[in-house]
Amino acid sequence: MAASIQMYSGLKKLLVISLLFTNIYSTDGQDWNYQDLGPDMWSETYPMCAGTSQSPIIIKTACTTYRTFAPFRFSSDYNLTYNFTLLNNGHTITSTYNSNGSTPFTLSGGGLNGTFQFLNFHVHWDENSKSGSEHQVNEVKYTGEIHFVHQNPETGQIAVLGIFMHSSQLSSDGIDNTANKTIKEWAKYFTTAVELGSVNESTELSLNLATLMGNNLNDFWRYGGSLTTPPCTEDAVWTVFTAPIVISEEEIDSFRKNIFSENDRSPQPLYYRIVYRNFLNETLSAIPDYNCCSDESNNADNKVILSKPIKYFSILSTTFVLLNILNT
Ligand SMILES: *[C@@H]1O[C@H](CO)[C@@H](O)[C@H](O)[C@H]1NC(C)=O
Ligand SMILES: *[C@@H]1O[C@H](CO)[C@@H](O)[C@H](O)[C@H]1NC(C)=O
Ligand SMILES: *[C@@H]1O[C@H](CO)[C@@H](O)[C@H](O)[C@H]1NC(C)=O
Ligand SMILES: *[C@@H]1O[C@H](CO)[C@@H](O)[C@H](O)[C@H]1NC(C)=O
Ligand SMILES: *[C@@H]1O[C@H](CO)[C@@H](O)[C@H](O)[C@H]1NC(C)=O
Ligand SMILES: *[C@@H]1O[C@H](CO)[C@@H](O)[C@H](O)[C@H]1NC(C)=O
Ligand SMILES: *[C@@H]1O[C@H](CO)[C@@H](O)[C@H](O)[C@H]1NC(C)=O
Repeated sequence: MAASIQMYSGLKKLLVISLLFTNIYSTDGQDWNYQDLGPDMWSETYPMCAGTSQSPIIIKTACTTYRTFAPFRFSSDYNLTYNFTLLNNGHTITSTYNSNGSTPFTLSGGGLNGTFQFLNFHVHWDENSKSGSEHQVNEVKYTGEIHFVHQNPETGQIAVLGIFMHSSQLSSDGIDNTANKTIKEWAKYFTTAVELGSVNESTELSLNLATLMGNNLNDFWRYGGSLTTPPCTEDAVWTVFTAPIVISEEEIDSFRKNIFSENDRSPQPLYYRIVYRNFLNETLSAIPDYNCCSDESNNADNKVILSKPIKYFSILSTTFVLLNILNT
């Protein structure tokens, strides 16, 4: 009898606790998140999230198609410092420029159709430094990914510039973070943004977009995808730059602790989309499977020009297998 009462009250406690958790996650006025209303559920409210042209994807480098693109043309204001509004919108921290209906930031070229305006930039991350980016390169994830979201006001089309974030211990890894403008600008960003721990909290911060983007915008992959968050709108032009920017591990960890633990969507099926690259030579993946281009990658007649065969192939793949085991 006593035992069953104890069991009953234990069950009741469990029920109360689980209701409490449901409340924490569901009554914040949001109909999607990365927990109970996570990516697997999004399509129930936002059907487009189950579309056939979704983002992010795994970029199989060996299966990309070489193509040349006109250079990007950034308006000169990308190189000036402006006050941005940083806002915790419950899913990420968005940084927008409040321009009262006009924007000094316009982007064209780069194979984009027309002139696009900067809307916001935001970061995606996850609970450790070996995950966090939304796009993956041959199944390798970076610590984070920054999205500079643009839109063509005439067509409504979205164009996102995605840059990977690689976290490092900086000075102890021999990286001079005091001389590097990009690293310093991100440090400034993180110091302020990390304070926005509650939903709808916002602040102003002066930032330089070109400095945040860094000086490695030459090589990229290009494909047609979607927003990586509801409503998962398709017809978005993706540019994913190959070179990551470097941030400090402490900075991204402060986001995990003070903002959210994670906000990255898993890769979506490629279906029949082509992923282009704007640079001639690509390297093989250390994961053999990622060098087999199925019909789905649509590039059977346009394989990569490989720069060099990987000599330490088996060592590398063993390392990857080990890393994967350690990760699980
Ligand atoms: C930018 O923001 C700072 C800090 O809030 C403020 O002191 C400054 O006046 C702002 N500058 C402009 C041009 O709005
Ligand atoms: C914003 O735009 C409105 C209408 O276009 C104008 O009346 C107002 O003065 C502008 N405000 C600023 C701060 O420029
Ligand atoms: C570019 O946009 C225009 C509308 O401004 C549209 O008519 C045209 O089909 C688009 N071209 C491509 C290649 O998407
Ligand atoms: C945040 O602001 C939005 C729009 O003003 C509002 O609908 C929502 O309830 C707010 N959320 C919280 C948690 O304050
Ligand atoms: C910013 O200015 C630098 C130096 O003048 C230039 O190399 C770079 O392309 C510019 N970046 C943008 C995004 O305009
Ligand atoms: C600064 O660091 C970035 C990585 O975040 C690197 O790509 C860039 O080349 C560095 N810039 C300089 C001037 O060293
Ligand atoms: C690409 O690879 C080919 C073959 O190995 C080599 O001849 C060429 O120089 C490489 N091009 C570049 C830009 O690295």
